Amino acid sequence: HRHIHQATPEKIDAVIAGGDFRPVTPEYEDLLSYRGRGGYDKLTELRESGNWEQVQDMLLEAGLRGLGGAGFPSGKKWGFVRSEEGPRYLAVNGDEGEPGTFKDRVHLEREPHIFLEGMLIAAWAVEADKCFIYMRDEYPAILKLLRKEIAALEEAGIAPAGYIDLRRGAGAYICGEESAMIESIEGKRGIPRLRPPYVAQVGIFDRPTLVHNVETLHWVAMICREGPEVMNATVHNERTGLRNYSVSGRVATPGVYLLPAGSTITDVIAAAGGMAEGHVFKAYQPGGPSSGLLPAHMDHVPLDFDTLQPHGTFIGSAAVVVLSDQDSARDAALNMLRFFESESCGQCTPCRVGCEKAVKLMQAETWDRELLTDLCQVMTDASICGLGQAAPNPIKLVIQHFSEEV
Ligand code: NAI
Ligand code: SF4
Repeated sequence: HRHIHQATPEKIDAVIAGGDFRPVTPEYEDLLSYRGRGGYDKLTELRESGNWEQVQDMLLEAGLRGLGGAGFPSGKKWGFVRSEEGPRYLAVNGDEGEPGTFKDRVHLEREPHIFLEGMLIAAWAVEADKCFIYMRDEYPAILKLLRKEIAALEEAGIAPAGYIDLRRGAGAYICGEESAMIESIEGKRGIPRLRPPYVAQVGIFDRPTLVHNVETLHWVAMICREGPEVMNATVHNERTGLRNYSVSGRVATPGVYLLPAGSTITDVIAAAGGMAEGHVFKAYQPGGPSSGLLPAHMDHVPLDFDTLQPHGTFIGSAAVVVLSDQDSARDAALNMLRFFESESCGQCTPCRVGCEKAVKLMQAETWDRELLTDLCQVMTDASICGLGQAAPNPIKLVIQHFSEEV
């Protein structure tokens, strides 16, 4: 495995001592050094003589799936967007808001041009008239470096002036939902749209829009540059490919770890240096709060797309949070529901009222399991978007696996 990020205690101390909280632009690979190792050669080659369907086949062969968390086959999306009449747009979802997820940040802070080349390759493939990058405002250093590097791309003639439109989010979790993000890009309040139609058909300003997460585009470039083997060469627990796990909680060395897609929680904790001193592994969140909590004894399941569904959850953005004997599963679930209550856009009743009621019911000394289960069902069945549909997961899984606490 490769340990690619760590905020060292020295760095944190330095920031506190200096009292300087302005964004410090991290050390990253700029345009010159990226081009020095063949960066943008693939884009140039494709623009001159490439066949987009061949690139699409390569993505499908590599099994590339949407790494924002939903895992939709990326190549298929290209096909949907391409089959719609132009003008078409591309939108990058950089609103990495799922608590515990910080993999996109690490990639952007280190190698922004791999992502930018992937974006321009995808834009070429679907013949996008323009690319919008929706970047969360909580990553000010990234906004700063992207502004600089986009200007460098324009100067080098790799992207026409104004072709890449960098937009800032404003701290709303729901704006990471793709249609809410599109509303926000259009200058409106970010609330999810009903689907169908999918954004591939009706997206930004009602035009067909290819939406990809930052990391997905990073892998588009990697696969184009190095071939599908970059994913297919790794097989572990009968799963193929690689995953970036954002690991936090009670581990010795929190960070982003690039591991085989078939890694179990045991592998992930080992990569993160084992448990933090004095902590005994008790539970884990496999992919953000929407994925709820699993008990430590479920340590044999590969943390990949599709493998967690039989256990009532999913890997999502692979935001692994590790809990120990010093944590309460019940308190963690309540915390997650408080988050959803606060971030619900309020558009639909099952989610707006459901999250609020759930928080109240979860504060009782003994949970009314029947009522909570009923509420969970309504929220899952009747909410408009993934927020309300997945918000009950922590409740359901804590009732199932940590019943003694509730
Ligand atoms: P989804 O499965 O409904 O859609 C995934 C993508 O496939 C979308 O772009 C959608 O437009 C496209 N799609 C699906 N069916 C299609 C069809 N028939 N035709 C055309 N396009 C189609 O999932 P959703 O709601 O977009 O995302 C949910 C995931 O997001 C969760 O798994 C969660 O883990 C993750 N998430 C990630 C966050 C992060 O910070 N990275 C934050 C919050 C949630
Ligand atoms: Fe808004 Fe929640 Fe309904 Fe989604 S489920 S549209 S966040 S109220």
